[in-house]
Amino acid sequence: MEIKAVILAAGKGTRMKSETTPKVLHQIMGKTLLGYVLDNVKHISNGEFVIVGHHAQEVEDFVANNYSTAKTVLQSPQLGTGHAVSMVCPVLEDFEGLVLILCGDTPLIRQETLEKFVKFHEFKKSDITVMSTIFDNPTNYGRIIRENDNSLKCIVEEKDATDEQKAVKEVNAGIYCLDWGKVKSAFGQLKSNNAQGEYYLTDIISWGKNNGLNVNAYILPDSDEIYGINSRSNLATATKIMNKRNLEKYMENGVTIVDPDSTWISEDTQIGQDTIIYPATYIEGKNIIGKNCKIGPCAHLRGDVEVLDNVKIGNFVEVKKSVISSNTNVGHLSYIGDSELGSRVNIGAGTITANYDPITKTKSKTILKDDVKIGSNSVLVAPVTVEKGANVGAGSIITKTIPAWALAITRAPLKILENWVAKKLG
Ligand code: UD1
Ligand code: CA
Repeated sequence: MEIKAVILAAGKGTRMKSETTPKVLHQIMGKTLLGYVLDNVKHISNGEFVIVGHHAQEVEDFVANNYSTAKTVLQSPQLGTGHAVSMVCPVLEDFEGLVLILCGDTPLIRQETLEKFVKFHEFKKSDITVMSTIFDNPTNYGRIIRENDNSLKCIVEEKDATDEQKAVKEVNAGIYCLDWGKVKSAFGQLKSNNAQGEYYLTDIISWGKNNGLNVNAYILPDSDEIYGINSRSNLATATKIMNKRNLEKYMENGVTIVDPDSTWISEDTQIGQDTIIYPATYIEGKNIIGKNCKIGPCAHLRGDVEVLDNVKIGNFVEVKKSVISSNTNVGHLSYIGDSELGSRVNIGAGTITANYDPITKTKSKTILKDDVKIGSNSVLVAPVTVEKGANVGAGSIITKTIPAWALAITRAPLKILENWVAKKLG
């Protein structure tokens, strides 16, 4: 059956205490919370609707620039999660398929889990399926309330719950699968007579029961996946969970992570076998790292970095948006940005690619061809090319193309004043 996804992302995110960034655009290792959700759902759905409201323009721009199959729908004012879903009713008026609803603040959900969830919905011939999980500390989540025969009764929000209901550890993950044709009329009927005065999407469960629909819960075994981000503290916890998950995956694939406690690697990084990642290394965004590389300690890869095989990126080296070809060394204290480095290049300690012009606010490329050697403490002022095999003397500032196999050096001549110190001392 055709599946449309609806991602709720209009809420203010009050508990994040942010003036500048809407909640769903906060980041985990270089990728937004909303980006994680869209990346995981887009392979399952054919068409995604992101409900925007608070900071709508920023979220609209983010979606338009990064996700071609997704559309945004404005919710203004924001009257609750049920009200948010009702915004797609006009767009999906004639749609006859499944609607998968997710929250933009739940970035740890996996694609495989969503696939299983939809399969469960179909297997059960369900009309409404909600994802739930068991939390030792269920505070702040909606609680799943069941009948004596264990079938679903309703969802009660923390703020509306009795003490007895608060003791329930089964919580609402905020992810739903709806048989749209049967459920769409619910959205005109939700009420806001609750503690927050909002139209709750969670009321869809009791609505379904009252209307004789088949309502089920899919209990997720790995509760980490539906961890919701409501505060900065939640963001830090989610980042740790995500990182641990990523590092396990790399280690399983034959990558050595010397110290998982101090290493951070994003989900969208690929790493080849027998590469060693040394402690205190931070790798964010999308990157590809080859086989047999040595990265760190204390290296920072900022995204869009492609590193081929047998490359060494040493301590206090920052790399951004660059290609580093095989057998090249960037050993110490360097910045490589917007650059293409050939094979067997050697970058001396403290080399900087000066890629940014703060007056024109433009970035330019540095191209170092195969077998180039850059002496320590050099500045390569982009746009600039060093042709094959050329050498740059230590301490040079390179502002124009250096021909193949030449030596370029801008160092002031060395002066030696014999006995200068001795004379001063008298
Ligand atoms: C919600 C659920 C709760 C569940 C939890 C899981 C409701 C009423 N409660 O609570 O049962 O356990 O998620 O994480 O649904 N949003 C809008 N428009 C609005 C309000 C919210 O788009 O008018 C969006 C938010 O941006 C957010 C999502 O909906 O992405 C959830 O809203 P939030 O306020 O975080 O709900 P919770 O209190 O976490
Ligand atoms: Ca939430």
